[in-house]
Amino acid sequence: MGRQGSMALLAFTLFGLLSSVKADSIGYGYNLVGLDDLNNGGGVVGYLELVKATETYGADVKNLKLVARYRGSDRLQVHISDADSKRYEVPQELLPRDPVDSFKANRKLFGRLKVEKSGVISSKKNQLEFHYVAEPFGFAVVRRSNGEVLWNTSAPGSGLFNNIIFKDQYLEISSQLPYKSALYGLGESSRPDGLRLSHNRQYTMWATDIGSWNIDIDLYGVFPFLVDVREGGLTHGVAIMNSNGMDIVYNDTSITFKIIGGVFDFYFFSGPAPIAVVDQYTQLVGRPAAMPYWVLGFHQSRYGYNNVEQLDYVMKKYAEVNLPVESMWSDIDHMDHYKDFTLDPVNYPVDKLLPFVQNLHKNHQKFIMILDPGIKIDTNYSTYVRGDKLDIFMRNGTSHRYVAQVWPGATNIPDFLHPKSQEFWSTEVAEFHKVIPFDGLWLDMNEPANFCGGPTCYFPPGIQTCPQIDECCMICDNTNLNRWDDPPYHINSLGIHRPLYAHTMAMNCEHFNGIRAYDTHNVYGMSEGLATYRALKELTGKRPFVLARSMFLGSGSYAAHWTGDNGATWGDLQYSVVSIINLGLFGVPMVGADICGFNFQTNEELCIRWTQVGAFYPFSRDHSDIHAGPQEFYLWESVTETARSVFSWRYRLLPFLYTLMFGAHKTGAPIFRPLFFAVPEDSRTWDIADQFTLGTDLLVSPVLQQGQVTVNAYFPQGVWYNLFNPSQVVRANNSFHTLDAPLDTINAHVRSGSILPLQDLAPTTTQARKTPYTLLIAMDPESDSFNAPSAICDRRSKATGELFIDDDDTISMQVKDGAGSLVTFEATRKDGVYVLKADVEEGAYAVKQGLMLQTVSVLGVRTAPNSVKVNGKYEAVNVTFDNKASYLTLTDLNLPIGKDFEVSWDCSGSDAFTS
Ligand code: GLC
Repeated sequence: MGRQGSMALLAFTLFGLLSSVKADSIGYGYNLVGLDDLNNGGGVVGYLELVKATETYGADVKNLKLVARYRGSDRLQVHISDADSKRYEVPQELLPRDPVDSFKANRKLFGRLKVEKSGVISSKKNQLEFHYVAEPFGFAVVRRSNGEVLWNTSAPGSGLFNNIIFKDQYLEISSQLPYKSALYGLGESSRPDGLRLSHNRQYTMWATDIGSWNIDIDLYGVFPFLVDVREGGLTHGVAIMNSNGMDIVYNDTSITFKIIGGVFDFYFFSGPAPIAVVDQYTQLVGRPAAMPYWVLGFHQSRYGYNNVEQLDYVMKKYAEVNLPVESMWSDIDHMDHYKDFTLDPVNYPVDKLLPFVQNLHKNHQKFIMILDPGIKIDTNYSTYVRGDKLDIFMRNGTSHRYVAQVWPGATNIPDFLHPKSQEFWSTEVAEFHKVIPFDGLWLDMNEPANFCGGPTCYFPPGIQTCPQIDECCMICDNTNLNRWDDPPYHINSLGIHRPLYAHTMAMNCEHFNGIRAYDTHNVYGMSEGLATYRALKELTGKRPFVLARSMFLGSGSYAAHWTGDNGATWGDLQYSVVSIINLGLFGVPMVGADICGFNFQTNEELCIRWTQVGAFYPFSRDHSDIHAGPQEFYLWESVTETARSVFSWRYRLLPFLYTLMFGAHKTGAPIFRPLFFAVPEDSRTWDIADQFTLGTDLLVSPVLQQGQVTVNAYFPQGVWYNLFNPSQVVRANNSFHTLDAPLDTINAHVRSGSILPLQDLAPTTTQARKTPYTLLIAMDPESDSFNAPSAICDRRSKATGELFIDDDDTISMQVKDGAGSLVTFEATRKDGVYVLKADVEEGAYAVKQGLMLQTVSVLGVRTAPNSVKVNGKYEAVNVTFDNKASYLTLTDLNLPIGKDFEVSWDCSGSDAFTS
């Protein structure tokens, strides 16, 4: 760590010094008047004084404390808060991180310390540098390796933006950006513009219950995290740890954060590979949760399965047409008057539902039930009675319980930050589990949603149930609003600056410790999600499954996500690819969109195409709205056929997908990735929003438009084999290729150089997991031109792959304590001899399961081998060779997955193979 003088970043400094303050400024910024090394090294603490007060959006905070500190080699944190009093920050119990509380900054401590006009604070170990100018204060973040300025807040008066502004209910900061930088992230919203953020747009961070078929507005989750790719492909990330509402305004050459509370707490991640950025970011916010294996199966759901008989019928129909279905989901239909943890005694009586669920379990299938946070106010309802007794509900501005209207009518909203809320929630989950042994929980309406909105709403006397369940029938007087519900700055919620209280809990509602919903709104869903995850963990001691709608930074560490109420439109199919990629960047790799669309009536062509894409979503579920017709895959023959084709591959790919999940759990690596992850240095990949890769090895180029029968797909350099028809090969040089894509076809290609672990198709993942393994080895074809006559196996080639398996129960995915096995595969070809090796880390688990590798399928081979050796000995294994596809298959290998092995074959000679 070192401090240097003012020469280091001349351009940056000059920009700061030459600028002058705008006359109509809403803030004049702060001067840095004291700066000291942190006592533990690794950064500085600074003291800032207000230059001049203004009254716009309220009084300025007079003195600020700055902490800039490095972590490891790739993270820089810049934290700016009130120097004199503590302000709200994202609660540590939701997102544990190093607090800055112990660093003090005040006049007495700093005296009139002389601060250089500008300076650089750097750490030899870290890839990033912190630069500052003192008057008015601004800072920049610079990449050490090439001196590129990644962030620069210092352009006051340049006409670009204001100085740093810090008021109780309004914080503003801006950074310059190069016009050409490619930004991603800032969710959650549906993006018709594609993946890359468009210039001159605003991104509003406000958890909102509104259908995701609505574009370019704030949706359910809040992820103030940016990924920025620069010329040449070097990538960095920026997160702001702040849960207050905010508008993020991205103009051509600047980005401005307008935040209505909390503190500035920026984290910069140096990358420089895109995947490294997500690694560094998830190290801070939490690695993605391990997911049970079965989550990778296909799920069926619908709002509007009216009774148990319908659930049963749907499962039977899937079986009849021979389509795998892993689980049945239960929406609010099963509830007694929409009350959580209850069953409708007429349509979903326990004596019918329980045998149905038991039968699912017998068939290795699962049952997942929905929960909404609002608890109906009803003294005859035991959940309410227990919550009332523990007194864990949110209170309004006059310390009375806040009343919201959700599906069941009048509800109270649990305060999941309350010390007793875990006890409450765990008890309810456990009690209900005794009634119906569900396998996972689906958290909806947790923004939290409210069909009414306002600090003082009440039901007309005698009325508690509304004629129309999802329309407000309370009386709300929102004329004399408090400063929380009507703050000085109105964020651009829904693009119409909708009042903050609209469709949610009032902003002056208080948690047990006096913290207001105004501050915690965006983490409410997270607080419920964590409580649910813990409740399931306590209950079963096994890896929980939670699917959650409202999320925040770090929510991937306990839950999966679906993109909410999309529409059955071609546009929605397109946004789904972008949204799923974005969630992966946010650290939520297990994500999907409702296949065939939730709202509106779907149609056959759309459903075919959606099924093709949905088979490659990490989380793959068909779900539809009560107002739309049913859309199960068996309803159209064409959809059934399509599903059979794509899902048979999905099920074969389960070991590959689960291994990707393991990677996500260990390093944050998204499962479903954008093309710029593969080739960030090629700026043409920055705008690709209609293709994706699964890991690095499978490239999917779907049709996302009506009537389209070809795709123009980008392929990273190398050879790519069509997954469905390996004789179709694309040789690419970071190039676009036009591919046929008739209605029954989706293009998915396997990267040469990869080894994909596969198993066989089975009706459920439990059965599929027991089938023998196959390794699909994609090698470079043996001659330069695929059609060349030469049959010489002389070109060197190599392919690698991985397989992780475990018992699926252990909370984390690990090889430790015999819980799992990890195998690395490597295949090489040299002078016509192929060698495949398995290198096992902790094989005990796999050996115990008796898992065997039976088949090796090799792509890119020109001739059948004349001999095969297994662990050094000639073995009479079965060999088949498809000349057209250059596809060699060795079967009956009988090799235990948990043990090292070596298989080699020789195709250099002319002797035909004899078994
Ligand atoms: C919300 C959910 C949707 C669910 C419905 C009824 O709209 O997003 O998935 O089906 O509520 O519970």
